[in-house]
Parts: sequence; C-alpha cells; structure tokens
Amino acid sequence: MKRISVLTSGGDAPGMNAAIRAVVRTGIGHGWEVFGVRHGYAGLISGDMAVLSARDVGGILQRGGTILGSARSAEFETVAGREKAIRNLNVHEIEALVVIGGNGSQTGAHCLFEMGFPVVGVASTIDNDLAGSDITIGVDTALNIALEAIDRLKTTASSHQRAFLVEVMGRRCGYLALAAAIAGGAEAVLLPEIEKEPEALAAELHASYLRGKPHAIVVVAEGAKYNAEAMAAYFQTHKDQLGFDLRVTTIGHVQRGGAPGAFDRILATRLGGGATEALARGERGVLVGFIKGEITTTPLVEIVGKQKALDPYLVELAGVLAK
Ligand code: F6P
Repeated sequence: MKRISVLTSGGDAPGMNAAIRAVVRTGIGHGWEVFGVRHGYAGLISGDMAVLSARDVGGILQRGGTILGSARSAEFETVAGREKAIRNLNVHEIEALVVIGGNGSQTGAHCLFEMGFPVVGVASTIDNDLAGSDITIGVDTALNIALEAIDRLKTTASSHQRAFLVEVMGRRCGYLALAAAIAGGAEAVLLPEIEKEPEALAAELHASYLRGKPHAIVVVAEGAKYNAEAMAAYFQTHKDQLGFDLRVTTIGHVQRGGAPGAFDRILATRLGGGATEALARGERGVLVGFIKGEITTTPLVEIVGKQKALDPYLVELAGVLAK
C-alpha cells in the first residue's frame, strides 16, 4: 500500500485529534502517504483532501473537536453520492480509508466497503452506543464534563432544597445518562431505553424528599420519552407532587467540546494505531474497537444497524444506590 486517507464523521468527540495524529504518524511509519479528508463524507464527495505530514498533526493531541472538521452528509446516503466519493478517492490513488466516527459513520463506511472500497472504522462517539467496542473515543471526557456540572448543581440544589433535571446527550442511547447518574449520585435517571412516566418520577422524588434528602438530581438523556423540557412542563402544573422546588439545566454540546482527558487520548491513540495495523495486516471492512482491555477488530457487517444495549445490572444499581 502506498496511500491511505482518514476522515472524521458525525458528532465530534474529544480525542478525535489524537486518533487522526495516530493514523497519520503510524501510517507514515508503515511507509505510506496519509491524506486527510475535510468535513467527513461531504469532503469525500467534493474531493476536499490533502496530504498530511507528521508536522501537520503536531500540537493537536490536547485539542478538542477535530482538525479535519466533521459533517453529517445527506448526499453520502445516496448511491450517487457514494460513487462520487469513490471516484475522488480513486483520482487521488488512495487505496484505503480510515473512518473515525460513530454508528452513522460506520454504516457509511460499511456501504463503501460493500461497493468495493477498502475501509477500516475507528470507534468514536460520546454516546457509547457502538457495538464492537466496550467504550468509544470521547465517552470518558464527556462523562467527566457532565459530572462536573452535576457536582456543582448538587451544591446549589442543597442550599435551596431543590430538584434539578440535568439533561445530557444521547438521542437513542442512555449510556451517558446512566453512567453520569451512577458516578454523580443522582436520585433518578430517565433513559431512552426505559420509559418512565412523570407520575413515577414524582413518586421517586417525593419519597426522597420524605427521607430528608436536601436535594434531588435527575439525570435525563435527551432522547428519553420525557426529556427535561417535557418533564418540567408536566411539573409546572403538578408542583405539589414533588416536595422540592424544580429547576432545569441542559448540558448539551458542552459535553462534546474541550480538551480530551488522558483516557481518551490514550484510547484514541491506540485505536488510531490499531487502524493502520489492521490495514497493514490486510484487514478490510472492520471496526477497530476496545473489548475487554484489548484493541480488537470486528467486521462492520456485524455491527451496523445494531445499538449496544445498556447493562441491566447498571440500571438496577443506579436505582439501589439512589436510596
Ligand atoms: O452522536 C453524538 C451526539 O452528540 C448525540 O449524543 C446527540 O444526540 C447528537 O450527537 C447531536 O447532534 P448534533 O451535534 O448534530 O446536534
């Protein structure tokens, strides 16, 4: 192999730059030229790509976001869009593509592979919903950001005997919310995977109030049946059900911004290096992930369209610990 390319796609995640750096430098170590594609699949379609040197990826390890830019491309979802992408890769004589991203991005990578183009995916999303990796790039940093907010909210909540609905990201997957609830000592958690009606939440919070808790923290995944806004709207007209006064905080994209922590830098570096190792071994159409402490490859066909399930034990534990 002489030439490969790398792109970042979908929602950015802290640690993506460390993964890009690892792909470029380990690729150069294999004797290859490495092209960076700007703005994900959109850049593949427009042919926006250029060679990256080892120096070009210097000083980015600690930076949040992605130096290549990211996008969610509607055109790439069409066959015509993907054909344009493959033509541009061929024009630049690129022999393989590394896709750093989450579920949607790896589905795109699988489509390219099915059309005959060699690809390797790198597991990256703050949602931690990707099958084929126990943990993905960005999760740890995003979780720590959510925890910092929860820790701060607890102090002001206690001062005023308030309940807080704290909304974290996760449209379809409640991993971030569940992990933040456990690590943040929340009184309740609302997940997309498990529906909870306002009356049930009210009963839990009221019971906490009666037990003498000075505050109640509810971690809400944005994709829960009742997100923070909807739940707050219900309690506007049912104030008496809680005991506590109620406030709402949405952390949102703050979780995706900022510098990656040590765990994400190391994970991203190992996965990026794992991608070029996989290519050097001749593996194609696989996701490079982290399973049981090892860097692994899983065929993309086995992971696309699947969402990693929440650990039922963690769900149970969150409830027990909230007492
Ligand atoms: O997939 C990562 C993620 O941050 C989700 O948690 C969230 O639902 C979504 O991206 C937000 O997407 P966007 O940045 O396009 O608004």
